[in-house]
Amino acid sequence: MLEVTRLRAGYGAINVLWDVDVRVAKGRLTTIIGPNGAGKTTLLRAIMGLIPVGGGEIRIDGQSRAGTSTWDMARLGVAMIPEGRMIFGDMSVEENLLMGAFHKSHRAQAQTNLAHMYELFPQLKERRNQLAGSLSGGESQMLAIGRGLMAEPRMILVDEPSLGLAPVLVQEIFATLAGLKAEGRTILLVEQNTHMAVGIADHVYILQAGKVVLSESASNVELQQIHSVYFAR
Ligand SMILES: Nc1ncnc2c1ncn2[C@@H]1O[C@H](COP(=O)(O)OP(=O)(O)O)[C@@H](O)[C@H]1O
Ligand SMILES: [Mg+2]
Repeated sequence: MLEVTRLRAGYGAINVLWDVDVRVAKGRLTTIIGPNGAGKTTLLRAIMGLIPVGGGEIRIDGQSRAGTSTWDMARLGVAMIPEGRMIFGDMSVEENLLMGAFHKSHRAQAQTNLAHMYELFPQLKERRNQLAGSLSGGESQMLAIGRGLMAEPRMILVDEPSLGLAPVLVQEIFATLAGLKAEGRTILLVEQNTHMAVGIADHVYILQAGKVVLSESASNVELQQIHSVYFAR
């Protein structure tokens, strides 16, 4: 469904990604793991059209999409759930969710989707009128995921959803991701929690210093192998 080939991208004169090849199969969960600063967020930003592409290709369903605006990527059914959640703290939980359905084509379905989000995340329903800034870390992450889902994406790019969460909440977030996969959504998950990410994934990539250093079916990956890549630096 998503094919990234020989992608180069970075910030101004600084190139971060060096000929990155990543394939995300439809209905599968693909994870990209790797140390801090490896370029994981940069990769998601480049796919989403948030930073320019310096070289290579990004294809969605076979169509060339490198350089497509973020707006149009959303219209194509791709949603990003950013690192650090990026929720609007001085707006209510419900207003944040409705922000996810800003595009004209999603507005008609907004109330139905809102009800669906409250089924998925009952805690958010209880807190629907509360300011989002008052939510706990786990609830904030649920809100960020819920907001992304409001646009009815076919593919979601999730950036480090477990960051800073207590283990019990990490379990909850991964259970949510497993549920989304079971619904048939295509997921590209960036994580530093390698154990959990490999456990839920179909395919694993390791990104290191802007390069893919491992691409392997999750069932063939051993954590030992991952750790040796991490510590070989
Ligand atoms: N806005 C930015 N401007 C300049 N350099 C950046 C910016 N964001 C990230 N970088 C640099 O790009 C590299 C990759 O960062 P990032 O993609 O955030 O890594 P990761 O998500 O794997 O931790 C790092 O060296 C980082 O310092
Ligand atoms: Mg990052």
